[in-house]
Amino acid sequence: MRFVYFGDIVGRAGREALLDRLPGIRERLDLDFVVANGENSAGGFGITSDIANRLLQGGVDVLTGGNHSWDQREILDFIDAEPRIMRPLNFPEGTPGQGAAIFMARGGQTVAIINIMGRIFMDPLDDPFRMVDQALSEFTLGRRADFVLIDIHAEATSEKMAMGHFADGRASLVVGSHSHVPTADAQILPGGTAYQTDAGMCGDYNSVIGMEKEEPLRRFTTKIGGGRFVTANGDATLCGVFVESDDATGKALRVAPVRVGGRLAEAWP
Ligand SMILES: [Fe+2]
Ligand SMILES: [Fe+2]
Repeated sequence: MRFVYFGDIVGRAGREALLDRLPGIRERLDLDFVVANGENSAGGFGITSDIANRLLQGGVDVLTGGNHSWDQREILDFIDAEPRIMRPLNFPEGTPGQGAAIFMARGGQTVAIINIMGRIFMDPLDDPFRMVDQALSEFTLGRRADFVLIDIHAEATSEKMAMGHFADGRASLVVGSHSHVPTADAQILPGGTAYQTDAGMCGDYNSVIGMEKEEPLRRFTTKIGGGRFVTANGDATLCGVFVESDDATGKALRVAPVRVGGRLAEAWP
């Protein structure tokens, strides 16, 4: 199977660039399935039903979430009715939406997605390792699922890397989101799982992680909070991770970064 995961879509710049270029990327890479993280797609904070629908109609098969999933309250009205919009699995029990689910790719392959949040420098949540272990025992790679994605939405590189090794051999791809900066460590782990610590964002890189520079700089230099964060709306770079997997085993045959448009050096698999 040929798969791409795109990191956090930040604001209008990231959203419009993805909608604009995704049909061409799908065709060029002959993709069977596309996942993107949508937690910052509405002005940097959360996701609306309008935006989610446009992205889902525009070639994204599933949208994952993170700590910003609930920033737009209207998501609570539609997340339970739309399984293609996910949120982290380890939120408290009873939270709307789902964090682990199975979908069908165009070619008929089953794709299991586990969206999980780290706990280092983040809100305290249920143990991500225990919950991923549980979900993986349900979605056995090569049997119940032809492809397993784990989106680990976390701050610490160590926690993401640990999750990669924890799931090695049991997932097709473990990829990090949330930091908005792509890492250069795409690799296939010894057990056959593709891995990259962070996919990076789909957004304007002439910014502080997708936001206009003025407010973050003011906060760092003066320690006076209270101003508004505004998304940077210059030319966006789409950052993602491409994986080609073996349909018989679900393991990765190839992994490579994808970077298209904007300021970052272009990369194609
Ligand atoms: Fe984010
Ligand atoms: Fe986040």
